[in-house]
Amino acid sequence: MYFHFHLDDLGFAPLAQLFKRTAITEMGHVEALAERILFLKGDVQMAATSEVEKISDPAAMLAKAVAMEQGSVRDYNSAAKDCGTNSDAASKLLFEHLVGDEEGHAAQFERQLDNIKRFGPSYLALQSFGATSSSGTA
Ligand SMILES: [Fe+2]
Ligand SMILES: [Fe+2]
Repeated sequence: MYFHFHLDDLGFAPLAQLFKRTAITEMGHVEALAERILFLKGDVQMAATSEVEKISDPAAMLAKAVAMEQGSVRDYNSAAKDCGTNSDAASKLLFEHLVGDEEGHAAQFERQLDNIKRFGPSYLALQSFGATSSSGTA
């Protein structure tokens, strides 16, 4: 969301929109995981595990986002494996679904990063011509 606000502020509406859509999907992931944890009689700790990195360069944001999505793919693949080992098929299925989503996010962010490399730094400005603000208010 931090990246989405900043990209919107820079006038890069399409990329801001991609980050916004992804953040909404991620909120759904948190909800699905929380529901599963409560179903299993656990409790949910709602606390950030790390500070948000204050990156303002779009290419650096994308590189960070790709790395984070790839990290999630690794974590959820490993969690799915553990769930299988412990005969928890429903949790395994949830993690496998999340792996698919995170691979999709990584691919979308990678494509934008590749486009900046291929077409140069004005790629994002050109992409924004004719697009409105992702918030729809500017
Ligand atoms: Fe996620
Ligand atoms: Fe993701």
